[in-house]
Amino acid sequence: MIIEPRMRGFICLTAHPKGCEQNVKNQIDYVKSKGSIDGAKRVLVIGASTGFGLASRISSAFGCNASTIGVFFEKPPTEGKTASPGWYNSAAFENEAHKAGLYAKSINGDAFSKEVKQQTIDMIKADLGQIDLIIYSLASPVRMHPETGVLHRSTLKPIGGTFTNKTVDFHTGNVTEVSIEPANQEDIDNTVVVMGGEDWTMWIDALKAENLLAAGATTIAYSYIGPAVTEAVYRKGTIGRAKDHLEATAFTITDSLKDINGKAYVSVNKALVTQASSAIPVIPLYISLLYKIMKADGIHEGCIEQIQRLYSQRLYNGGEIPTDENGRIRIDDWEMRADVQEQVAKLWQEATTETLPQIGDLAGYKQDFLNLFGFGFSGVDYDADANEMVMVDSIN
Ligand code: NAI
Ligand code: NA
Repeated sequence: MIIEPRMRGFICLTAHPKGCEQNVKNQIDYVKSKGSIDGAKRVLVIGASTGFGLASRISSAFGCNASTIGVFFEKPPTEGKTASPGWYNSAAFENEAHKAGLYAKSINGDAFSKEVKQQTIDMIKADLGQIDLIIYSLASPVRMHPETGVLHRSTLKPIGGTFTNKTVDFHTGNVTEVSIEPANQEDIDNTVVVMGGEDWTMWIDALKAENLLAAGATTIAYSYIGPAVTEAVYRKGTIGRAKDHLEATAFTITDSLKDINGKAYVSVNKALVTQASSAIPVIPLYISLLYKIMKADGIHEGCIEQIQRLYSQRLYNGGEIPTDENGRIRIDDWEMRADVQEQVAKLWQEATTETLPQIGDLAGYKQDFLNLFGFGFSGVDYDADANEMVMVDSIN
């Protein structure tokens, strides 16, 4: 079977197993090239199959020589249909980890459910005993609440008034104006239920209740702040309320871990092309301008560079973990540099369908988007039969 990208709006319906494998191998090579890191050895990554979570799993395994359990929600391949990219990524990751003699197992299911938490608990008990680091990297549009059975949907809406600004359709390069109607209270509440810190707390509580957190265990969740141009729809919108809640949750989790000297942190990461961020209006235009500037300045990073730096220069730098005045770890420091943001703000004014190919890195955006699904990698023969991807027992 020859697999080609089939785009539908913000997603691609197909994924390429060999390309996903190449993506994982490239990330592994990057982490190895940066040298070993003296970090946590038993790691649970929740949201481990794509984006920042995958980069975290790779950084733990191939940077810190860690055993990893990865939890994610991905589609396995079926007759005539490819798997979702995170499934291929995880299969490739497990193969590479096993080749390197590293423990790696995965749980494919709804991380918000009690069942998946229980499965994870059983796996830790059977295989690892305790966990030293829990990365919480879920990005989901929905959450079925485990107590009530209610299905909550998150939204990406401004709060208090209609938001109108520029956006780009990154497939066509068309820059248009988009208006988004403000959220009501229900939208806000639902978004906080889905993307706030409640489930993070439930995970940590469940692991602690079973004595599965090692002394000094650390847990990290990922957040975003970003620039003024995206503020109304991101940080001051519904998703921002969820991030406020997530950030506040770090403090309540840290309180709950006092007796084992555990710590919860939020790391604020850079804006990057992932399946999650492509669906947010305005953000793709911002990212394409940001990429252009950061690449020109030699400070561009992808997920793996971000997380490798998080580990080597923040978490495991041999000293205190540096945080901002709100207790957050910042690896968005280069994105948020004043000179970078001044340039973005200026280019934002100039961005049109006609100017964007020159002033923005639309090509880089598209390349990254294709890469998410395993397309566009050099070293992959896309004309070859892609059927013989090795299946991994522990992923169903
Ligand atoms: P992503 O879409 O690449 O990854 C999401 C992960 O969550 C995948 O592993 C997916 O399988 C898993 N997942 C989703 N629903 C699940 C469920 N019900 N059960 C189990 N697993 C589930 O997203 P990305 O961008 O890596 O986001 C991760 C975190 O990083 C999010 O909190 C996001 O807000 C944050 N972040 C993202 C930034 C960006 O620009 N992409 C910037 C800064 C923070
Ligand atoms: Na992730």
